[in-house]
Amino acid sequence: MVKIQKAGPNHIDGIARVCSASYWATYGDLLSREYIERMIKEFYTPERLLKEVTTTSRSWNGWTVAVENGEVIGAGVGGMISENHGELFVLYADPERRNEGIGGEILDAVTKELIEYGAREQWVNVTKGNKKGLPFYEAKGFQFIHEQEEYGVIEGEDFKALRCHRFL
Ligand SMILES: CC(C)(COP(=O)(O)OP(=O)(O)OC[C@H]1O[C@@H](n2cnc3c(N)ncnc32)[C@H](O)[C@@H]1OP(=O)(O)O)[C@@H](O)C(=O)NCCC(=O)NCCS
Repeated sequence: MVKIQKAGPNHIDGIARVCSASYWATYGDLLSREYIERMIKEFYTPERLLKEVTTTSRSWNGWTVAVENGEVIGAGVGGMISENHGELFVLYADPERRNEGIGGEILDAVTKELIEYGAREQWVNVTKGNKKGLPFYEAKGFQFIHEQEEYGVIEGEDFKALRCHRFL
């Protein structure tokens, strides 16, 4: 049985594993190896994840994980970016477990918390060309609003993100 729950320190290895595997599976053909390695190194270290599961606030509502037999198979996190706008910062399912409803359940759990914080609208950034992510957000009612530079690009990298929005 898959359980959707708030992550603790015992989940950080699983979060790192799922997010890194999904990063390669999703962006391997879309972004450069250098960019992907830089992002994984920035986001998915045990030190950073430990802080991120133990410190939660309105602007960072802590990692939510999907766990099956003690193993993390999906992870996501969101927070408030203004009085009544929330954002989904990250959402990844184990590449072997996509389209089973896991991502939708994590999105619902994160969104429920954002609504409790007062969110009426929700945002997400999706890498341009991400065919494993965009259809999901479209199915969940998000609409493309505008294009911007992808997070953390350096000189010589031309990667774009699509800023998407839905009313809650
Ligand atoms: C995006 C992601 C987290 C979604 O999680 P998931 O567990 O695979 O998705 P679910 O099974 O919960 O939901 C599937 C929904 O998307 C829709 N969907 C998925 N792929 C689709 C496609 N190619 N075309 C149309 N609809 C699609 C389904 O119809 C379903 O909608 P419904 O629940 O309203 O019927 C997951 O697929 C993933 O990790 N993708 C790669 C990484 C990624 O892109 N993450 C987002 C970064 S912003």
